Amino acid sequence: MMSQEQNDFITRVGPKEPAGQLLRQYWQPIALSDELEGVHKIKAVRVLGQDFVLFKQEDGSLGLLDKHCSHRGADLTYGRLEDGGIRCPFHGWLFDATGNCLETPAEPEGSKLCTRIKQGAYPVQERSGIIFGYFGIGEAPAFPELDCFNAPDTHVFAFKGLFECNWLQALEVGIDPAHASYLHRFFEDEDETASYGKQFRSTSADSDLPVTKVLREYDRPTLEVEESEVGMRLTAVRELDEDQRHVRITNLVFPQAIVIPMSSNMTISQWHVPVDDHNCYWYAIFTSFTDAVDKEQMRAQRLELYELPDYISRRNRSNNYGFDPVEQQKSTYLGMGHDINVHDQWAVESQGFIQDRTKEHLGTTDKGIILYRRLLTRAIKACLAAEYEALPLRPTAETAHLFTGPIAIDGVTSQHTPQAYLEYADQDRRNKSSWATSVTSE
Ligand code: FES
Ligand SMILES: [Fe+2]
Repeated sequence: MMSQEQNDFITRVGPKEPAGQLLRQYWQPIALSDELEGVHKIKAVRVLGQDFVLFKQEDGSLGLLDKHCSHRGADLTYGRLEDGGIRCPFHGWLFDATGNCLETPAEPEGSKLCTRIKQGAYPVQERSGIIFGYFGIGEAPAFPELDCFNAPDTHVFAFKGLFECNWLQALEVGIDPAHASYLHRFFEDEDETASYGKQFRSTSADSDLPVTKVLREYDRPTLEVEESEVGMRLTAVRELDEDQRHVRITNLVFPQAIVIPMSSNMTISQWHVPVDDHNCYWYAIFTSFTDAVDKEQMRAQRLELYELPDYISRRNRSNNYGFDPVEQQKSTYLGMGHDINVHDQWAVESQGFIQDRTKEHLGTTDKGIILYRRLLTRAIKACLAAEYEALPLRPTAETAHLFTGPIAIDGVTSQHTPQAYLEYADQDRRNKSSWATSVTSE
């Protein structure tokens, strides 16, 4: 249990809030590359409780500015992309991607007004189908050399979805390996041929056991958590019989991403990005080690649930997530269909817009959450003290190569310890990959 002050300290995201200040020191996903593909290559983005405008110019370069024009506050989302920047349609003021005001055309000839105007501008970078923005103090860190950023475009697919709740509880479901045996339980296993692109639907590596069966029948995993180069590693072990054990390795990438296995050759790297205190988007990069990703199929699967342009789930609070009590009795543990995104969405949204942690009671399976909150609190304190160099996972271009992987594995072994198995299974996967290099410091 924690006090209300502690809960606010780790959840609130505004520019003056402690957690908000920490998150601003990291690159934040702000849009999918797909979202700037239309005729109008300008998009409003709300992130960390603030409003920005993201745009792609004719030469392909990106810009990220404050949403409201420095003149009299009109919305630049409706601007014109022309003459090397974005022009406000109210009085024609023109801003470049660094926030310089280039023209104030209605002002008298020879006016110097624009030399004194600066629109708020932020660094922006595109990686693996996601556009990231940086809103922090000082220079942005380099991107760590994680698999999801190293893989070629053919081997990654990015998507997102809205959760109507605070970012922290959305993240915490991802560092809670025990919930999968309950929340995501299916009473029957699906044919593996229908599993492509879906989580928890394939077989565990090095076995013919459906993951659904492992989760259902072995529902009391032993859990180890430890700090790692990128944040935290979680190892969940399920003893299947005297000589076989199921090992699932997942990761927290500081401050707010998880990297988990999806199938024997794919991983999911997923950020939980605050829109404001009460809403967040998950942004995921699905990374394939071997075959190219079938982006069209993966996109079509996800568009069955998520409605554009805001990537809002068709199953949500307003329709009880499609809850069906007969289904709950006969085929799934939760009764909200077979899409595990809906299960997680219900779990985290039903906790309230910001989970009241003054009333919770943590158990042994919440080890990951406990360690993560400790890391988060430590980092927030360092950030408030302006000790930015003490923050985890903010590499420079020279140190980015020290942060790789992380290893995310789901498999069955009879002869290995969990540590030996993760090394073996990870190396095996990398050996089969045309692009993945070995991880460092393992
Ligand atoms: S409000 Fe944008 S130019 Fe006047
Ligand atoms: Fe889940």
